[in-house]
Amino acid sequence: MYEQISHSLLNDILTQYKQPQGEDWQHFYTRLGANFYAIHSLFQHLYGQRPDFKEQLGKLVSVLAQQYAQRAQHLRAKDLEREKNHDWFMQQKWVGMALYCQGFAGDLANMREKLPYVQDLGVNLLHILPICDCPAEQNDGGYAVRDFRKIDARNGTMQDLEQLIAAMQQCDMLLTLDVVVNHTSDEHAWAMQAKQGVQQYQDYYFMYPDRTMPDMFEAAMPEVFPENAPGSFTLNPETGKWVMTVFNHYQWDLNYSNPAVLIEMVDIILFWANKGVDILRLDAVAFLWKKIGSTCQNEREAHLILQLLKDCCQVTAPGVIFIAEAIVAPIEIIKYFGEDAINAKECEIAYNATFMALLWDAVATKQTVLLTKGVEDLPEKLDRATWLNYVRCHDDIGLGFSDKAIIEAGFDPVSHRRFLVDYYTGHYAESNARGFAFGVNKKTGDARISGALASLAGLETALENQDEPAIENAIMTIVLLHNLIMSFGGIPLIYYGDSVGTLNNDSYLQDENKMHDNRWVHRPTLDWDVLALRNQPGTVQQRLFSQIKQLIAIRKEISAFADLNNRELISLENPHLFAFHRFVQTGMHSKVVVVANFDTSPQSVPLHSFRQKGLFKGSALTELYSGQQITPESDLLTIPKLTAYWLST
Ligand code: GLC
Repeated sequence: MYEQISHSLLNDILTQYKQPQGEDWQHFYTRLGANFYAIHSLFQHLYGQRPDFKEQLGKLVSVLAQQYAQRAQHLRAKDLEREKNHDWFMQQKWVGMALYCQGFAGDLANMREKLPYVQDLGVNLLHILPICDCPAEQNDGGYAVRDFRKIDARNGTMQDLEQLIAAMQQCDMLLTLDVVVNHTSDEHAWAMQAKQGVQQYQDYYFMYPDRTMPDMFEAAMPEVFPENAPGSFTLNPETGKWVMTVFNHYQWDLNYSNPAVLIEMVDIILFWANKGVDILRLDAVAFLWKKIGSTCQNEREAHLILQLLKDCCQVTAPGVIFIAEAIVAPIEIIKYFGEDAINAKECEIAYNATFMALLWDAVATKQTVLLTKGVEDLPEKLDRATWLNYVRCHDDIGLGFSDKAIIEAGFDPVSHRRFLVDYYTGHYAESNARGFAFGVNKKTGDARISGALASLAGLETALENQDEPAIENAIMTIVLLHNLIMSFGGIPLIYYGDSVGTLNNDSYLQDENKMHDNRWVHRPTLDWDVLALRNQPGTVQQRLFSQIKQLIAIRKEISAFADLNNRELISLENPHLFAFHRFVQTGMHSKVVVVANFDTSPQSVPLHSFRQKGLFKGSALTELYSGQQITPESDLLTIPKLTAYWLST
């Protein structure tokens, strides 16, 4: 948009700096012109009170230009291509895997050797969990970064990463890396300077001489890690000051009310964009703005900062997109795509933490009432925005669906949540699950759940008891959950090890730095001899791997599985079934009905439930995963236990 004030300010800024010219820069200036009105308004809103406002805005523009100057030709070409094909990430062809590079392959150099495995499964998007330099011990699995531009020696070198990126680009694979935007390690150079009393860097954080401000903040702030890191402030012995540490005591929260912090972060984001990373996962975005009297989560300014990061990235590297890691209430998550717009204006992708938690609810209850209710309540997404659908990841499972949905599903919120924690931690007679309670808050009674997918699905117990029917149910549960993340709409993100049924691993208990954090029980170091069993017929690994591989292959062929806000729930009279319809105008398999049975017995539903929606008009149905023709008997569709059908008519 053209507006005089911002436009003349941009002219001033550009005349102050030596402006690169030439054909190569044409795209930069067009994008800067297109986005500058928004950049200026957001910057003004956040920092307009400061006397150095104009100077800071000038610095921001110069970072955008400097990083554009560094952007390789092939990445600039990719930007143009993606601008043209702007829905590129919403196609059904993408299937992701999240992994720790050390746990998966040892290091980045070895990651290249493992690409054939990933490709064999059909995965073409890798999220490599944090790889930046961090302290040897206190690092929260890499989320306490000491140097944002250096690879941690345990993962290898920048050259290893560059070679990996080149290899991935060769086979049309996307790379996602983290940018830990909310905090740094207390060993980061900024924190080290702050500890030495340098005011400029103390202003990068929240540091207070006494408990007055911390007490005021803490009065309304929930605790993220109540067991290991209670409270949200830590006394720093070097300065005698209280530092805001929302997560662990060694993770110092960055203060975005200081524009210097924002500008540093833009520079870091563009540094990684210029390395050739396709997608940046912005960590803990709900926490970006702190305000006394609020929970310091999901504040409006946190959204403004994300919009600013997006607008800036679009100027220099528009082919790069963002994932919002905001594991918050359903009504809040959706806002991280951006509001007041048609297209996503913050992050194009967000973790579908609601769907993930609802799936676990359906597994425990064998019923789909809450799942259906919760999905029904999910607000419509913006255009050019998509979910990251997952079953497990490196974090715990938070039971983040709303109390309202639980009540409407006929349960009491407190006792239902307690039941789920009991169920998954094996404190419930009928449960085979082997999880652990995480983040137990004695004051509020809240708890989350850790554990590997296979162990939570009952595979560990079943294998120990050599109970074949229970093994079968566990395998079917794992496949069912993968089936739903493949078909729901969005990018499915498989967690490494899950496609071969990797169980809990308690070796973290031997490590003094990890023993207090049971999320490490599901962050395995893969045993490649065990993975090789995926090729041996009849093994658990082969049974799982072959089915998940097939799901991925078929997903890619179904045009209706592209995520274009093209899903309609179908409410069925059977409480064990969950169904939805996916559709597009054209393409192969443009209308598909997904019907999932979470019960351990077959379940039926009359066909009229579908026919009244104009579906299943003919007599024969094709199940796309198995290729079978299904002829319903007596007008009843029967779904086998723990199975989801992909039905094309
Ligand atoms: C994110 C990460 C989690 C980490 C936290 C603090 O939620 O996924 O692993 O502990 O941020 O950085």
